[in-house]
Amino acid sequence: MTQPLARAIQKMKAAKRIVAFTGAGVSQESGVPTFRDHNGLWENHRFEEVATPEGFQADPVLVWRFYMARRQLAKQVKPNAAHLAIAGWEKQFSFAGVVTQNIDGLHAQAGSRHVQELHGNIWKTECSRCHRVEVNEATELSADLPHCRDCGGLLRPHVVWFGEALNESVVHEALLWLYQADVIIVIGTSGAVEPAASFVREAKQKGAYVIEINTQKTALTPFVDLTLYGKSAELLGGPLRI
Ligand code: APR
Repeated sequence: MTQPLARAIQKMKAAKRIVAFTGAGVSQESGVPTFRDHNGLWENHRFEEVATPEGFQADPVLVWRFYMARRQLAKQVKPNAAHLAIAGWEKQFSFAGVVTQNIDGLHAQAGSRHVQELHGNIWKTECSRCHRVEVNEATELSADLPHCRDCGGLLRPHVVWFGEALNESVVHEALLWLYQADVIIVIGTSGAVEPAASFVREAKQKGAYVIEINTQKTALTPFVDLTLYGKSAELLGGPLRI
């Protein structure tokens, strides 16, 4: 066993409160495209068109088509060994939960019960007028765009777009977990998106030991205590299986 791997295991076993912080990389081995890698989602799209409130206002049909295509893909994928290992941590450790930037719902599907979804969930809609949120599992766009059954407002995907604020109560709970953690495992995120990345840096400043799992260096690498290079499902389903 390599030294960093042994150190990570030792830290996790000795931890009083662990939190996992995940990004698109944790779902990559399930077949969900990441955003900023080669072949990433943003490589094929101008994010301004499909992931901003202005984009939605300009062309809601285009945005809904984009999200329906993502739902069709999300429906076909399954949690991988990393999601399953993380779900298992709830039973193994004093584990607060998973703070994720992912909208694919795969952590919950793997059995994680404590998940804060910083960027929303692709399987929910939000009314752009009354802000009612509900589960919506359609994968095809009907002839008319979806509308709120309460107020008739236009429904939008319940995801946080560029330029939008994160949900306050989700952030509150996520920060509570992160600031009280003594070990944080950051998995599969480029750390390029704020404020999410700042949550990890702040928790580190408050004293957490931060372990990063990624295939490459990230914007968070200089701030963490230990980086384990590799694919998360391979590592967490193999040598890092605890
Ligand atoms: N195992 C571990 N890490 C991986 C794997 C893998 N199998 N595959 C890719 N990675 C790493 C990449 O090296 C990269 O650092 O996952 C990271 C993915 O980074 P991004 O594509 O930037 O995804 P993420 O960090 O989740 O993006 C944050 O940006 O556009 C938004 O809202 C979107 O939530 C998303 C946010």
